[in-house]
Amino acid sequence: MHSVTEFIKRNRDRILDELFGLIRIPSVSSDTQVEKAMHDAAAYLKDHLLSSGADHAEVMETEGWPVVFAQKMVDGSLPTILVYGHYDVQPVDPLEEWLSPPFEPEIREGRIYARGADDDKGQLFMQLKAFEYMVSEDKLPCNVKFLIEGEEEIGSPSLKAFCRKHHKLLGADVILVSDTTMLSLDTPTLTIGLRGLAYFELIVKGPVRDLHSGLYGGAVLNPANVLAGLISNMKDPSGRITIPGFYDDVREVSPEERRLLNALSLDAKKMAGSIQVSALFGEEGFTVTEQLGIRPTLDVNGIWGGFTGEGAKTILPARASAKISMRLVPDQKPERIELLLKKYLQDVVPKGVEFELRALHGGNAYVSPWDSREAAAAIRAIEKTFGIRPLPVRSGGSIPVISDFEEILGIKAVLMGFGLESDAIHSPNENYPLENFFKGIETIPWYFHYYVNS
Ligand code: BES
Ligand code: MN
Ligand code: MN
Repeated sequence: MHSVTEFIKRNRDRILDELFGLIRIPSVSSDTQVEKAMHDAAAYLKDHLLSSGADHAEVMETEGWPVVFAQKMVDGSLPTILVYGHYDVQPVDPLEEWLSPPFEPEIREGRIYARGADDDKGQLFMQLKAFEYMVSEDKLPCNVKFLIEGEEEIGSPSLKAFCRKHHKLLGADVILVSDTTMLSLDTPTLTIGLRGLAYFELIVKGPVRDLHSGLYGGAVLNPANVLAGLISNMKDPSGRITIPGFYDDVREVSPEERRLLNALSLDAKKMAGSIQVSALFGEEGFTVTEQLGIRPTLDVNGIWGGFTGEGAKTILPARASAKISMRLVPDQKPERIELLLKKYLQDVVPKGVEFELRALHGGNAYVSPWDSREAAAAIRAIEKTFGIRPLPVRSGGSIPVISDFEEILGIKAVLMGFGLESDAIHSPNENYPLENFFKGIETIPWYFHYYVNS
C-alpha cells in the first residue's frame, strides 16, 4: 500500500507529462476555428479517464462543444461524487506579453507556465490523478462520476440543456469542483460562494455617419459623450450602483456571517501594491473581503467608438459602444437585471440618440452553508494536508453552472480549489505552482474519505 505522497513522488514526471499533453491542445472555446482542438481535448480526457480506472467514459455531443462523461461505480449503496471541471481555456492575447508560448508548458521557478496551467486543466488534472491513485490502491471509497465541459469560459451555453436531458445519468450526492482559489498555502481557504454575472453590450447610435465636428459639433448630441455620461451616472461617488431596483433582490447577509467572512482580512495595501495601483476603491461601508464576496458590481470591460487612430481627426462619431458586466450576488437574477437596465436606459437616454442593449451571457450566484456535510469534509481534508483549518471565503469569480446544477440536478457543490490569485488566470503568463498542484492531488482523496465516512 502506498500513500498518496509516495504515489506523487513515484509518478511525478509521468503526471506532469500527461498534464502537459492536455495543455498542448489549444482548446480556446471562444475560437470557432479550433473545432479539432476541442474534440482532441475531449478525446484526450476520455482516454485518460479510461486508463486511470473509469469503467466507462464517453465524449457526448451537445449543441456546442462536447462534454466528457465518465464513471466508476463501486456499489449502488454508497454515495456518488460528481467531479465537474472544464477543458476549455481563455484566449491567449496579448500574445507578445508571454515569456514562453502559451501552449508549450514550461516549468520556471517551480511553476508551470501555460494557458490552462491553473484554469482549469491543471486543477482538473489534480482530480484525475487523485482518482487514479484511489483506484490503483483500491482506496476509492464510493462511486465517482466526471462531467467535464468545453464551454465554461463562454458562459456554458449548452450545459443547462445537457443537464436536463441527462438528469439521471448525472445523479449524485455532491459535486466536487477544483476551479477556484485559496488565499495562500499558509492561509488555506475554502470557497463557499461565487458571484453571478450579467454581461451586456451597450451601443449608443447618433447621426447616420461620422460628422465634421466643426460643422456639427455643439448642435448635435455626440454618442460617445452620451455613453460616457450614462456609464458614469450608473454609480454614485460612494460606489453604489444607481440603477433603480438594482439592490432589491440582494439577500441580506447576517452579522454572524459577515463576522465569519471577515475572519479573512485582506490587506488592501498589499493588494494595491501587487497590481501596482496607488489605492483600492470600493463601495463605502464594506470591507475589501465583503466588496469582493458579498456585494454586486458594475464594470466597463471595454469601450470604443469614433476615431482611435494616430494623431487627431476632428469628428463627431456616429456611434459608441461599451461592454458592461455586473457581478451579482444571491438572489439577483441576470434576467431581472437586464429589465432594470433597459428600463433605466429608456428613462435616461436623451432624445437625439438611440440605444441598443444586447445581453451576452449571465448566470446566478451560488452559496453553500459552512456547516454542511459537504463543506465539513473539505474543511477536514484541507486541515489534514495543510495542517491548518481553512477559512471560508465567498469568491468574487463566477462559475454560473454551479447554481444551475443546484436548480436542475438538486445537488450542492463543494468548491475545493487550489489556485492562487498570482496564477494570472485569463492573463498572459498564466501559471500554477507545482506545490499547489501536488497539494491538490494529496488533499482530494481525503475529501472522498471524510465525505463517505461522515
Ligand atoms: N475558474 C474561473 C472562475 C473562478 C476563478 C472563480 C477564481 C473563483 C476564483 C472560471 O473559469 C471563470 O473564469 N469564470 C468566468 C465566468 C464565465 C461565465 C466566463 C469569470 O468569473 O469571469
Ligand atoms: Mn475555470
Ligand atoms: Mn476562467
